[in-house]
Amino acid sequence: KVLPIIMAGGSGERLWPLSRAHYPKQFLSLTGNEHTMLQQTLLRLQGIEHQPPLIICNEAHRFIAAEQVRQLNIPHSGILLEPEGKNTAPAIALAAFTTMQKGSDPLLLVLAADHAIKDVCAFQTAVQRALKYAEGDKLVTFGIVADKPETGYGYIKQGSPVDNGFVIEQFIEKPNKPLAEQLISSGDYCWNSGMFLFRASCYLNALKSDRPDIYDACEKATHIRNHDLDFIRVDQSAFLSCPPDSIDYAVMEKADNAVVIPMDAGWSDLGSFEALWQEADKDRNNNVLLGDVIVNNTSGSLIQSDGVLVTTIGVKDLVVVATQDAVLVADKQYASNVKNIVERLKQQG
Ligand code: GDD
Ligand code: MG
Repeated sequence: KVLPIIMAGGSGERLWPLSRAHYPKQFLSLTGNEHTMLQQTLLRLQGIEHQPPLIICNEAHRFIAAEQVRQLNIPHSGILLEPEGKNTAPAIALAAFTTMQKGSDPLLLVLAADHAIKDVCAFQTAVQRALKYAEGDKLVTFGIVADKPETGYGYIKQGSPVDNGFVIEQFIEKPNKPLAEQLISSGDYCWNSGMFLFRASCYLNALKSDRPDIYDACEKATHIRNHDLDFIRVDQSAFLSCPPDSIDYAVMEKADNAVVIPMDAGWSDLGSFEALWQEADKDRNNNVLLGDVIVNNTSGSLIQSDGVLVTTIGVKDLVVVATQDAVLVADKQYASNVKNIVERLKQQG
């Protein structure tokens, strides 16, 4: 049985003002679904034989996470709290050390909490296919057909075929635009979906040899663990001294025992407004309209309101998002640049 690790500590800045520092996107329902992204991630596990999932998120969001898990009324293994986000390599290390107590060495199914997956069966089949490789001490990734030079993803070069997939010949995290264009036109690369399956010990061994600094800090941090209701806390000062990095740079780019299982499951990283518009249901003018919105002669746009009535006339390919305290109006094509605005907001405090 796999042990799902749900990573829910990201900040989702490219979806500001929907996604906020105190309420990031994994805790929102982005496409009008009745469940939040975190809840959808948990529900997607039904059909896979698994142990109760372990959720890992920032201390600041503990009550949001706990409440969303409680609403589903499913068993879980606790909510591991990070005093500060150190990105995914340390987060997974904390989870791995925590689950390895009492001599067990579970297969960790590491999942991001911010993905949309249309074909849940295909996702579950891919996980089944991955099991034997993870049992054989491989680091398993799930590959998505890459069809545009997206720079926000990891790229995986498929090497020699194995039963259900391929040996990973090369892993390139977030290439720049020219390189991404080169990788796409070569036709040899797929995208990394950001989900992984491996034995806890297999990940920790790789981390120990590639990033002993992260390994040591996380080992120290999990020496003392404090359980308080559903919450699991680690040694704060040990974890605060841990250098930040993602699993992709820290481990996957350097790994020589990795495998990719192709996955065709209607996967999407809902990372930007453009991706959100792609994935959501549209009206006959290709608009995604959410909340109290009236449009006239408007096309190709995402118009969303959390409160005030929003109306548009004679516009196309816009993103308009109104929340209680902020409004964004952007050209859909450039909406990812909203991260520059978030930077400015941070500087202003
Ligand atoms: N607990 C915890 N702590 N979770 C985190 C942290 C952290 O410090 N940082 C990020 N996460 C969570 C996010 O909430 C998300 O669910 C997941 O980990 C992935 O983090 P992102 O920050 O969204 O990564 P990314 O999208 O830039 O890149 C990753 O995913 C791509 C596919 O979506 C990489 O794995 C890429 O290679 C991959 O293509
Ligand atoms: Mg992401």
